[in-house]
Amino acid sequence: MNMENYKLQGEKLPIVTYPDPVLSAKATPVTEFGPDLNKLIKNMLFTMYHAPGIGLAAPQVGISQRIFVLDVDYEREVITNSEGRDEVRMSGFNPMVFINPIITGTSGTTTYEEGCLSVPGVYEEVKRFQTIHVKYQNLKGEHLELEADDLLSICLQHENDHLDGIVFIERLSNLKKNFYKKKMKKEKGT
Ligand code: NI
Repeated sequence: MNMENYKLQGEKLPIVTYPDPVLSAKATPVTEFGPDLNKLIKNMLFTMYHAPGIGLAAPQVGISQRIFVLDVDYEREVITNSEGRDEVRMSGFNPMVFINPIITGTSGTTTYEEGCLSVPGVYEEVKRFQTIHVKYQNLKGEHLELEADDLLSICLQHENDHLDGIVFIERLSNLKKNFYKKKMKKEKGT
């Protein structure tokens, strides 16, 4: 599998926003590791890079399955080209794919100002585990495991929450949670 193509080719999938019910549902495990899954992952990575974001879970594109993609390493800059037009340049890609992930160990705590493509315009500090151990499957269905800390650990916990129907605002104090819930519902006219 050539991951390099994933940033360049694909289809931009529509991102659902809170309070869409798919974001509150518990996603189901993946059982079929075939061309359909490959295509979905490719489009999810393309959608993530072009959103732009550092992580995207399948429920965020309306698919309630235990899949997410992330890249906490790539750089993105907007430069003005020789014709005077703004151009987005991305480099240093490190796409990662997690299928049926399970967090099997945690230690320490940390906080980070998080945002979410499904909760546009909201950035808040969230308390997370410092280090996690995660077991997951790759695109071929092979079983792998990983120890993560720093931004990778935070991003993994944020995306894993999406698979359990938890959007990051649910992790805030009741006061903030209710404020953002009302705000998002009002903005969507629901
Ligand atoms: Ni999110």
